[in-house]
Amino acid sequence: MSPQEARARAAPGTATVPLRVGLLGLGTVGGGVVELLHRNGELLLRRSGRPVQLVCVSARDATKPRALSLDGLEFVPEARRLVERPDLDVVLELIGGLEPAETLVRAALASGKHVVTANKALLAARGGELLALARQNGVRLAFEAAVCGGMPLIKLLREGLAGNRLESIIGIVNGTCNYILSAMEEQGTDFAEVLKAARAQGYTEADPTADIQGLDAAQKLAVLATLGFGLPLRDDKVHTEGIAEVESVDLRYARELGYRLRHLAIARRRPEGIELRTHPALLPEQHPLADTHGAMNAVLLRGDAAGPILLRGAGAGASPTASAVLADLGDLAATVPHGHPEAPLDATDPPRVLTATETLSAYYLRMQVEDRPGVLAGISGILSEAGISIEAVSQKEPLQGERHATILFITREVPEQHMDAARARLVKLPILHGAVTWLRLLHTD
Ligand code: HSE
Repeated sequence: MSPQEARARAAPGTATVPLRVGLLGLGTVGGGVVELLHRNGELLLRRSGRPVQLVCVSARDATKPRALSLDGLEFVPEARRLVERPDLDVVLELIGGLEPAETLVRAALASGKHVVTANKALLAARGGELLALARQNGVRLAFEAAVCGGMPLIKLLREGLAGNRLESIIGIVNGTCNYILSAMEEQGTDFAEVLKAARAQGYTEADPTADIQGLDAAQKLAVLATLGFGLPLRDDKVHTEGIAEVESVDLRYARELGYRLRHLAIARRRPEGIELRTHPALLPEQHPLADTHGAMNAVLLRGDAAGPILLRGAGAGASPTASAVLADLGDLAATVPHGHPEAPLDATDPPRVLTATETLSAYYLRMQVEDRPGVLAGISGILSEAGISIEAVSQKEPLQGERHATILFITREVPEQHMDAARARLVKLPILHGAVTWLRLLHTD
């Protein structure tokens, strides 16, 4: 829909001066936004009462052939020139990464423009400073698209749950990790093999390192924890582990015991402070998050008044992410004429973030041991002396070609430092063959 059409169709009484937007970046998400504004611009106008007009765009390569129509859009060769234009209300930053995105976002905010971004890496590294800059300039920095694509998590936390004291955010926020773990579970294949196949079929980012090391999930968790718990917007306090060490044999054993392995992002309030961590963990198969397969995302929020709320949906992709961008544009279109300066998100006295050793988890342990009397008693003794209570024990048939017995333990919840102390003693047992494999396990929401 052209801006003229949008103005003509605006409902009586609605503002007809369009919100003028400049777009930085024409990759998957940028292209998705151009397409969705064409398709659903009229719906957005009806809902926000003011047309959103995409005026100009800047992308690295002006000559690249593109499937989408850029008719009526002015191409600005230099991104810096676009953010300095006085005729724009909003800069839409869909470049990603730290530079040049940070410089451009700062310039846009400093020149009094609102910024809408999908850039979680930039928010997790510099979010606090950028929000302060937005406040100083009386403009907004909106980022619904930065976390879990099409799932309206930011709005839910900022508005829907504004009257709650948040108790926990537990989520599957990285589609690549979930895709790989689901495939390992379903096919019984190892991590490296699944990753290779996923890359060959184009299911992962060109460089999936940030996904499989847990960094992408940590960045998303940092954004959510700021909104939920008033923590400063930075990801350097998130304890971060990825999935490269996960072995498919543990997925199989866990499944036999009634658990599923997922890569989780956890922000949880405890009396001593906030747990902030992202790592693989087992979930009982009846847990609301356990039934999340493939590249889907799911987040379970718990507010003291609202109770548990589960969102499950597409966490990435052109259309879902564009849906989140349009939500922010619609908000700006609806509120900007009335003034809506960026409110501070972090608390003046934020709660303490607990260290990894202070976090609470139950555990799954797998050990290969000599099959003789007293072995089980020796292991149980070490766990008991570390204050760890055992919930279940299971002895498995030797794996093909192995002489040693495999023993699995499921423990009750303990602080991680107790498990660290027990593991330090277990690895020295002469009856142990190989490593002590351990995974965290979450019983509760
Ligand atoms: N690479 C991310 C994922 C999507 O696998 O979930 C973008 O945040």
